[in-house]
Amino acid sequence: MAVERSAPSFRLALPEPTTNYEQDTEYCVLDTGTGWTEYRFHDYDELFKVPGLYEKLFYEILQCQSPPVVCDLLAEQLTAERVDPSGLRVLDVGAGNGIVAEELRNRGIGKVVGVDIIPEARDAAERDRPGVYDDYHVLDLTALNEDRASAIASGGFDAMTCVAALGFGDIPPEAFRAAFDMVAVDGFVAITLRDDFLSDGDTTGFAGLINSMLASGELEQLGSTVYRHRLATSRDPLLYRAVVARKHRPRA
Ligand SMILES: C[S@@+](CC[C@H](N)C(=O)[O-])C[C@H]1O[C@@H](n2cnc3c(N)ncnc32)[C@H](O)[C@@H]1O
Repeated sequence: MAVERSAPSFRLALPEPTTNYEQDTEYCVLDTGTGWTEYRFHDYDELFKVPGLYEKLFYEILQCQSPPVVCDLLAEQLTAERVDPSGLRVLDVGAGNGIVAEELRNRGIGKVVGVDIIPEARDAAERDRPGVYDDYHVLDLTALNEDRASAIASGGFDAMTCVAALGFGDIPPEAFRAAFDMVAVDGFVAITLRDDFLSDGDTTGFAGLINSMLASGELEQLGSTVYRHRLATSRDPLLYRAVVARKHRPRA
């Protein structure tokens, strides 16, 4: 699915590499022709309005690799489990402008449904990668009522992906749980999150949630890898873990 993209019409600058920012305070400055403005990396609503900015900043300059890494891991596990990707309907959570959906489609996934909390993400996906999503819902997963969840899930997704969107004021554990509940039993879960979010000292709640799902048998880990998600503005590597797991009925 090749989409023509024109050259960016902006100037972009990053902080000095000698300065260090926590991931949720990183920023860039951007000039679209009216002067320089500061944008926090987490101001996705503003970033997605500028065509080409998200790809230039995170993928070209900061060398983000999360979508291909986790999609490769998922594809490997589907092959190992003898599952035909073309028959799968995948829920892509924190979908942004569709980079993950594009990677899934390139690996033969049949249908992808996107979910994001901001309309600017859906608009950018339609602008940047028209047609990669069969459907795209703008909603807050923490405030999703049962009727809407079951209408969207429509019998349950065969898999969910959540890439570069867990934690940091983005998707909290309860939103992850709500998305997970829309996956059918025996479905696949493919996620990336900062490696220390799964450690004993984690304060985000993800380590507790994922470990309790593994302990109850509700989740079976199939594969996992630690990799460089992207560079920080200091140009130091940010290490993430990609995990592919399978959903089961919890043990009674
Ligand atoms: C770093 S972007 C990742 C986008 C895409 N997955 C990718 O890898 O390119 C994080 C995305 O998560 C979305 N997001 C943040 N909080 C969310 C929430 N509570 N529910 C759904 N999406 C959320 C943001 O709007 C943003 O589009």
